[in-house]
Amino acid sequence: MKKEDKFYITTAIDYPSGPPHIGHAYEKIIADVIARWQRKKGKNVFFLTGTDEHGQKMEKYAALSQESIEDFVGRMSGKFMELCRMLDISCDDFIRTTQERHIKAAERIFSRVLEKGDIYKGKYEGFYCIDCESYYLERDLKEGNCPIHARKPDWMEAEGYFFKMSKYQQAVLDYMNKNENFIMPKTRRNEIINRIKEGVRDLSVSRSNFKWGIPLPNDKDQVIFVWFDALINYISALDWPEGKRFETFWPADMHIIGKDILWFHAMVWPAILLAAGIELPRRICVHGFINLGGEKISKSKSAAGTDIVELIEKYGSDSLRYFFLREFSLGEDGNFSEAALIRRINSDLANDLGNLVHRTLTMVEKYYQGKVPAIKREKLDSELLTAADMLPETVEKEMAQYNFNQALAKIWELVNAANKFVEDTKPWVLFKEKKAEQLGGFIFTLVYVINRVREQLAPFMPQTAEKIRKQFAAQILKKGEPLFPRIENVS
Ligand code: ME8
Ligand code: MG
Repeated sequence: MKKEDKFYITTAIDYPSGPPHIGHAYEKIIADVIARWQRKKGKNVFFLTGTDEHGQKMEKYAALSQESIEDFVGRMSGKFMELCRMLDISCDDFIRTTQERHIKAAERIFSRVLEKGDIYKGKYEGFYCIDCESYYLERDLKEGNCPIHARKPDWMEAEGYFFKMSKYQQAVLDYMNKNENFIMPKTRRNEIINRIKEGVRDLSVSRSNFKWGIPLPNDKDQVIFVWFDALINYISALDWPEGKRFETFWPADMHIIGKDILWFHAMVWPAILLAAGIELPRRICVHGFINLGGEKISKSKSAAGTDIVELIEKYGSDSLRYFFLREFSLGEDGNFSEAALIRRINSDLANDLGNLVHRTLTMVEKYYQGKVPAIKREKLDSELLTAADMLPETVEKEMAQYNFNQALAKIWELVNAANKFVEDTKPWVLFKEKKAEQLGGFIFTLVYVINRVREQLAPFMPQTAEKIRKQFAAQILKKGEPLFPRIENVS
C-alpha cells in the first residue's frame, strides 16, 4: 500500500480523573465518523484514542478515592474504554500513558531534546491551574481565576528544567503559513497565529513537588511535566522510533481536539517534534464545547439526564451519535439537552427514517409475500432514483468540509422525499386496481433509496445501517420491529 493511502487519526487522550462525560463522547464520535468514512473510501486507517494518566491532577483525584493511584487510574481508564465500546468507537488502539511502551518513548524524546541542548535548568514562578495542568500569565486570568475552570490558580515557584520552546516560534509560524489547512477551522488558526506572534516563552517541563509521573532520565528527583509526556502518546502508540506502525502511519493526518487544548497541539507539540527531528502532523481539527443548560460541564456537579452512560443505555448509541452530529457544527459550541435529543429521536429517527423502512418492509410483505420485485435499475427513471444515485457525491461534498450536520441533512432530504413519494403514489390504490407494473416500480424505488441511504449512513450510525442491511438481505422480508420506537411521556 502506498503511504498516501494511509490515514492516521487521533483524539485527545482524556484525563481519567473522573468518569467520562458528554464532551469526551462527542470528541470520540467525531473521530469515529471520520475514521469510518476514510475506511469506506479504502484508506488504511489507524485510529487512536486513550487516557492521560500522569500528573498532579491525577494524583490529587486518586488521593480522594482511597485507592492506590495505580488502582485508581486503572479503574477510571477502564470507564473510558467501556465508553468506546458502548459508542461503537472503532479505534485500533487505546493508549495509556502509564504503559511501558509510552514511558520508554517519552524518556527517549526527553533525552533526545536534552542532548540537543534544548532543555536547560532554570527557575519558574507563576499562576498554575491544576485542572488545566498549565501556567497562566496574570493578564490571561479572568478576574484572577483560570479562564477555563473559573477557579483560583495556585502560585507556584519551581526550580527545574525548561524546554527552549521560544527557539521554535518562527519555525512553527512558518509551518502554519506554508500549510494553510494545518489548523481547522480558520478562526482557530488566526487565533493561534496571533497568540504565537505575541511571543512564545520557554516551557517548564519538569516537576518536583509531586511524584506521579515519568522520572526525568537525567534527574530522578523530578518527573516530566504531564503535557510534555502526554503529547508523545501520538507516536509512542506507533512504537516510535523503530516501529513498523510509525513508518506506515506517521505523520498524523488528523489530531481531533477541543478548543481548550489548542495551544498545546499547535505550538508545544510541533516544537517538541521539531526539536526531536520528527515530521509534523498534517492537520489539527478543533471542535467546540458542549455545554449543559448553557453552562460548562463540570465533573463535580452533573445534572440529571446528562450522564453519558445512562443516556446510551436509555436511548442507544446510534441515537446519540446521530444527535451530536446532526445538532452541532464542528467548530462551534453547542448545548446538550435531553429534551432536544428526544425531539430528534421522535422526528428524524422514528417518524422519518424508521417509518420509511417500516412501511417499505410492510408493503413488500403484504403486496409481494416478502420478495422485492426483480427489476433492473436501468429500466426505471425518476427524480427520486436520480437523487439516490447522486447521494454519495452529495454527502462526500459535505464530508470533505467536515460538515457532518449538512451531510446528514442531505441524507434526510432523500428520506423525506421517499416518504413523500409514498404519500403521493398511494400504493394501496395501485394494489386495489391491480396496477402491477407501477406498484413493482414503486416498491423497487423505495428499496433502492433505502439501500443508498444505508450505505451513506453507515459511518454515522453503524448499528442502524447493519440492522437495515439484515432486514433487506433476508430471504423473505418481514415488517419486524420498528428501528426507533417513539419516546412517549416526555416530561
Ligand atoms: O485535556 N465539550 O483531557 P480532558 C467538548 N488530557 N469537548 C470537551 C469538553 C466539552 N464540554 N470537555 C472536554 C485533556 N472536552 C488532556 C489532553 S492530549 C495529548 C491531552 C475535550 O479529559 C477536550 O477539549 O480534560 C479534549 O479535547 C478532550 O475532551 C479531553 O479533555
Ligand atoms: Mg479538560
